[in-house]
Amino acid sequence: MIDVISKSIKRIIESGYLVEPAFSSLTEADVASFIDYISALEPRPLVIKSKHYRNFLNLQKVPAKRAMVNPIKVYEPENKMRDMMDWIALYNNRYDRLKELLQNRCELKNLISISRTLKIPSRESISIIGMVKSVQRTKRGNIITEIEDKSSVVKVIFMASKQELYDKACEIVEDEVIGISGVKSSDVIFADNLTFPDIPEIETKRGPDDVYAAFIADTHIGSKMFLPKPLSKFLDWLNCKVGNPKQKEVASKVKYLFVTGDLVDGVGVYPNQEKELAVKDIYEQYEMFAEFFSRVPESIDVIICPGNHDALILAEPQHALYRDIARSVCNLPNVTMVSNPAYVNIHAVDGFPGFDVLMYHGYSMDHYVANVEKLRLAGGYNRGDLIMSFLLRKRHLAPTYGSTRAAPMQEDFLLIDKVPDIFTTAHLHSKTLVGIYRNVVNVVSSCWQSQTLFQEKLGHYPDPAKVPLFNLKTREIKMLTFI
Ligand SMILES: [Fe+2]
Repeated sequence: MIDVISKSIKRIIESGYLVEPAFSSLTEADVASFIDYISALEPRPLVIKSKHYRNFLNLQKVPAKRAMVNPIKVYEPENKMRDMMDWIALYNNRYDRLKELLQNRCELKNLISISRTLKIPSRESISIIGMVKSVQRTKRGNIITEIEDKSSVVKVIFMASKQELYDKACEIVEDEVIGISGVKSSDVIFADNLTFPDIPEIETKRGPDDVYAAFIADTHIGSKMFLPKPLSKFLDWLNCKVGNPKQKEVASKVKYLFVTGDLVDGVGVYPNQEKELAVKDIYEQYEMFAEFFSRVPESIDVIICPGNHDALILAEPQHALYRDIARSVCNLPNVTMVSNPAYVNIHAVDGFPGFDVLMYHGYSMDHYVANVEKLRLAGGYNRGDLIMSFLLRKRHLAPTYGSTRAAPMQEDFLLIDKVPDIFTTAHLHSKTLVGIYRNVVNVVSSCWQSQTLFQEKLGHYPDPAKVPLFNLKTREIKMLTFI
């Protein structure tokens, strides 16, 4: 393999280009047409990066007639050392972008910086926008927060006696950006109003064609608990081989299949995992995945992002799966590989902009079930759709430091800057469901793995082998079971 790669890279260098050290994914067969492709680029790149090869591959395998899948925001890996300044840049970037979203809200009157709140007299009504430094309950049951902007920090109190506001404040989590209106009293602010960045109610888009998008995830191939028969039955159904006539008709209308991470169980993901693995070789696990998914009809576009069990760095954003590890999956003609998270536009046709789908595997959702009482009381793991609405209100997929393994970088890629039409997650292995929040369709995908020992210890019951379907014309939602 190393020999093949070095020969390919040598040929590129001999053609007059520099090659980024991280660039390694190129077969010998591809190299001539790849050199033709980069020679035709305007402007002609001096340094060849992984993204050039990724774009080249996309052009190779996606003929114009099937350009119904357009990845609009996908994380490309950067070959760069990270340091403390990247963490500072990340949080500044988050603050600046969410402040911009919040600062025109009419409820935030008399908006001032936090350092100015410390100078004005008591009893004045003011508004601030800041990042939550800490949040805790007092002995009297009030909520006290420390809110920070680039100028200073101030304590803000949400009184338990203001029931509606207090209820909203129960959703506040560390490191998110919020707007607060209130009254200054000594060196604290008593809150009257709380504004989350949130999303506006969006239009209920309806596409021109009677077609479906299907959502699956967490196949965990390689695990002893992987459920091959249900997955096989699902693939037979996509080929209209099983089901009643009505179900077969629906199958014939499936045009998009989203696979939102954890394609395989991976290797060394948690202690003693090898005892629960039927296949211990990561390459073989992806080969098996490719074998199953080669049965998806070519008329269906398959969009795949990675999850925390897949074979790549865990820090989010995670770039798309490595071609040299999941080669057979990448080579499937109808597959588009994207990052986790990613925005993908589907079904844009003449006069219709298509649906923007936000894919996120969902690692941070564990943290919020464990730490936000309101989410636990509302159903916890079994109401993934409510956790997703909660994240949409934050306009962030993992606002709290430690809620996921975040990568320090100049731009906060986990920020939900664009309001999606469809938001799909997985990871919870709990109830499969579809919820609607301000017309955004929240899809929690099912797993294809029965209960693991770890889940048994936690008393956690999976809801496997279900497939939510969304009709792009009628907005009808269906749920099919393959177990
Ligand atoms: Fe999973």
